[in-house]
Amino acid sequence: MTAPTLEGRVVLVTGGATGIGFGAAKRLIEHGAIVYITGRRQDVLDTAAGKLGKGTHGIRADASIKADMQRVADDIKAAHGQLDILFANAGGGHATPPMDLTESQIDSELSINIKGVVLTMQTMLGVLRNGASVVLNASITADMGLPGFAVYAATKAAVRSLARSWTTDLKHRDIRINTISPGVVPTEGYGHEQKMTDRQVADYVERVATEIPAGRVGTAEDIGDALVFLASDQSRYIRGVDLVVDGGMTRVYAGKN
Ligand SMILES: NC(=O)c1ccc[n+]([C@@H]2O[C@H](COP(=O)([O-])OP(=O)(O)OC[C@H]3O[C@@H](n4cnc5c(N)ncnc54)[C@H](OP(=O)(O)O)[C@@H]3O)[C@@H](O)[C@H]2O)c1
Repeated sequence: MTAPTLEGRVVLVTGGATGIGFGAAKRLIEHGAIVYITGRRQDVLDTAAGKLGKGTHGIRADASIKADMQRVADDIKAAHGQLDILFANAGGGHATPPMDLTESQIDSELSINIKGVVLTMQTMLGVLRNGASVVLNASITADMGLPGFAVYAATKAAVRSLARSWTTDLKHRDIRINTISPGVVPTEGYGHEQKMTDRQVADYVERVATEIPAGRVGTAEDIGDALVFLASDQSRYIRGVDLVVDGGMTRVYAGKN
């Protein structure tokens, strides 16, 4: 089997300026894709586009605002006529005990993780070509009971469900929709979303690595490599699946034999 190629494919990565989205964008570009990244902070987008290099386009757009996403779809249509691959990655949330959840946190997690994914898909449908590949970023929290993550985990279970329903809805257009569920991938989000200090992240990474059969936490590039597969024609017969990329954490016993 030859390496997957994405030569000349036009890709949108929402939330592509940092973390998993950035690592994914990097891998897509290495495989020849033309990549659009979105996010809400212009300065962060500019820095990321500069690092990713020529041919990367940063568009400031909030994934949970339909008009923003429609503008992204219109820009892509004007420049390329069509979109080949969509990675709906923008999302987030943080651990909070159930008694302490505020309405604003619930609204915010539902808004970016569910409404944002729905609006991203809806607006991109007018520019996605028939036969396109769509990948939604879910999470292993949809499988595991993790302290404080009830609402976030529920939103990610919803994301997996959206992928299966849309696979049926878009069968006539041959648009493939799958999800990726990353495990523990320390990103900028651990600081600004989880409110963890660098020391806390380092301690957590060391501790959790012992619970992961692969012996380490994941990287954004680990997720990017899985995305390249789901985005490419090599996964042409795969629809509606969830690809867990967690070093075996949720599937395999990590203790001593
Ligand atoms: N890291 C993990 O361990 C892990 C595990 C499982 C799943 N995930 C999922 O992976 C995805 C990426 O997370 P990450 O860890 O890479 O976090 P991150 O570094 O915080 O990246 C999230 C990106 O999304 C953007 N974003 C947030 N809200 C947005 C919105 N409303 N519209 C557009 N862009 C938005 C952020 O930029 P702005 O703030 O500038 O908009 C940021 O660039 C999320 O869906 C997350 O739930 C992460």
